[in-house]
Amino acid sequence: MDRVLAAIPRVTNANVLVGFDTADDAGVYKLTPELALVQTVDFFTPIVDDPYTYGAIAAANSLSDVYAMGGKPISALSVLAYPAKGDLDDLEQILKGGADKIHESGCVVLGGHSVADDEVKFGYAVAGTVHPEHIKTNSGARAGDALVLTKRIGTGVIATALKRGIATESDVQAAVDSMLTLNRHACEAMLQFDVHGCTDVTGFGLIGHAREMALGSNVTLEIETSAVRFLPGAVGYARKGALPGGLNNNRDFASCVVETQGKLTPEIENLLYDPQTSGGLLIALPDGEAAQLERMFPDAYRMGRVLPKGSKPIRLV
Ligand code: CO
Ligand code: CO
Ligand code: CO
Repeated sequence: MDRVLAAIPRVTNANVLVGFDTADDAGVYKLTPELALVQTVDFFTPIVDDPYTYGAIAAANSLSDVYAMGGKPISALSVLAYPAKGDLDDLEQILKGGADKIHESGCVVLGGHSVADDEVKFGYAVAGTVHPEHIKTNSGARAGDALVLTKRIGTGVIATALKRGIATESDVQAAVDSMLTLNRHACEAMLQFDVHGCTDVTGFGLIGHAREMALGSNVTLEIETSAVRFLPGAVGYARKGALPGGLNNNRDFASCVVETQGKLTPEIENLLYDPQTSGGLLIALPDGEAAQLERMFPDAYRMGRVLPKGSKPIRLV
């Protein structure tokens, strides 16, 4: 994808505040000196069996990129691929789950587009607003910052364990609850602080998104692996080999930017590459403010720090 994007002509427009060249979560376009438009789109194949839950997770995931920019979602368009002879009750549930989650965020669904396709795919294009001076890009992390994450890791491994029939009901429920949780409150909490950089942890996994932040910010991100929190059951399923295909792709792609100090078990290492659906916000903010953010938003936890650019963009300790 990077190679293909490199061949697309750059836009030179003074109103483009964030374009596609920094691999950020969303594009940002300045409308007035006080107002910018945040735009993003995301859709994927079913990750859970229940259609209502799938629709709601897809919506939470699509909204997340607006929150990752420090924005406020305002309107959404659904994007749907559905079999021509597919079950209409299931489809109604997918759309209902999505619409309920969009409304929970204070955003409205304005319309959408659907195509016939044998494989179901669903998500939203979301528009949001942000003040041009308060955009949280993935390229602003500074040496000396603390790294804070707002959700646990492991949704890809648990979804794979579910498909293999080895996941317990309570572990699946915990992962579903996490994916259904909007990043809205995490975003509102982070906006109380002098956040330098933010991105959400999604398909490329924790290391993949940390890599983008490190490269964009010209720093090294040090991840304290013992501080990273995992969803219940995730470590055990990873040990049993319930690894999604995307995890191996993520490792093949990003492991060359990682340097590891000391010992790391294979299951923990794998989970650091696990593709997340509707994952949390990865936030870089001044070291002295991290503890306050943890107090204000108890799901947030410190799991690393930002160092001056070293030999590799990512350091695992
Ligand atoms: Co994102
Ligand atoms: Co996205
Ligand atoms: Co951001």
